[in-house]
Amino acid sequence: MDFLPAEFIANKRQGKTHTQIEIKSFIGQFATGKIPDYQVAAWLMAAYLNGLSSDETLWITESMLHSGEVLSFGDLDPAPVDKHSTGGVGDKTSLILAPLLAAAGGYTPMMAGRGLGHTGGTLDKLEAIPGFKVQMELEQFKSIVRKVGAAIIGQSRSICPADLKLYALRDVTATVDSIPLICASIMSKKIAEGIGGLVLDVKFGSGAFMKTKAKAQDLAQQLVYIGQKYGINTVTLLTDMNQPLGSYVGNALEVKECMDIMSNIKMVENGVELYADTLDLTLELAGNMLVLSKICPSVEEGKKVGRKLLESGKVMEKFMEMTYAQGAVTKWQLPEAKCKEEYLSPVEGQLLTMDCEQIGLAGIELGAGRKKIEDKIDPTAGFCMKVKLGQKVQKGQPLMQIYGNRSDLFPQVKKRLDNVFKIGNPLRVANE
Ligand code: URA
Repeated sequence: MDFLPAEFIANKRQGKTHTQIEIKSFIGQFATGKIPDYQVAAWLMAAYLNGLSSDETLWITESMLHSGEVLSFGDLDPAPVDKHSTGGVGDKTSLILAPLLAAAGGYTPMMAGRGLGHTGGTLDKLEAIPGFKVQMELEQFKSIVRKVGAAIIGQSRSICPADLKLYALRDVTATVDSIPLICASIMSKKIAEGIGGLVLDVKFGSGAFMKTKAKAQDLAQQLVYIGQKYGINTVTLLTDMNQPLGSYVGNALEVKECMDIMSNIKMVENGVELYADTLDLTLELAGNMLVLSKICPSVEEGKKVGRKLLESGKVMEKFMEMTYAQGAVTKWQLPEAKCKEEYLSPVEGQLLTMDCEQIGLAGIELGAGRKKIEDKIDPTAGFCMKVKLGQKVQKGQPLMQIYGNRSDLFPQVKKRLDNVFKIGNPLRVANE
């Protein structure tokens, strides 16, 4: 019997469960260009609305994994370890963690993604570095991992091509925040890397795909289940994403924040250290990675080692080595925005909440992310957050600075930002 994509889509629309063979045909034929995007987009929405069982999720992961090569670093000691986030706003820790692990004597062969939904992507951030290549032959990737200790690439025609295509389609079809689709996307990439250990930063809150901690816990459990099936030692951390991580949101800006942290530069506004949460989370994740790598006996010890390596400048050295190994031009400098404008607080009071997803969407409107698959990104576009939750703000105080090359977009972006900040009296809000 021939495999009919329209029948497969109709089955999911009717809430039926797919078989392993059907899933293998669908994902395999999509990866090789035999099923067009419009049919896959229709299936994605049916799967999003009607769900996928844990067996279906496992079979999708398996099919996506085997759509390309699966790497092996069996001879490396310590065994490679990686970290992946389920997606956030200003969530930039991978840029520090890969070189940190390399500076500690470990290995990180990281396969990352582009911006997804309202969240940013490591690949788009790295491409803000002039010349940096996230696509290369797998032999070259493996040789950089061996020589430098870390390299970061994207899915390609050779490795996880099914995720490359599915990820881009989910980004623009409002089908991102589905636990099974997130699990298959993340775990197919991570298993293909040939790692022995994985730290997952599972986000919850207004800037995450999982808005509640309970849903994030569910996602974490399913990710661990798949990791265990493939013999990967998988650890999850549930972390808060109710405000952007650190200060900067946007591709070049986030690379700048990471380079500042790796150079021991602090950003202080009104007595508040705006990079402190990025550094704390990075060290927590690093501690776990160093334990999985068997470089440190405990997370606490790993955090100490991570901090020392950062303070010594060795992580920054590794980061630069990695950028040059991946094609960055000599003495590269980050691009800077032509236009900047402050966004001011309309009232006085305490900063009670931020709608962090709206900040991510405002970034897409500025050009920091894509509205359509073929959109070009403005690497300079984004925001510098000037305040943190709980802080007191004055009327007219800058809440954030807007950056980008197109100031004509600023008025519409500001309109969206008008819905982001809830400022007031906490007692009055509690009684309302
Ligand atoms: N990261 C991924 O690689 N895929 C997702 O679906 C979400 C986060």
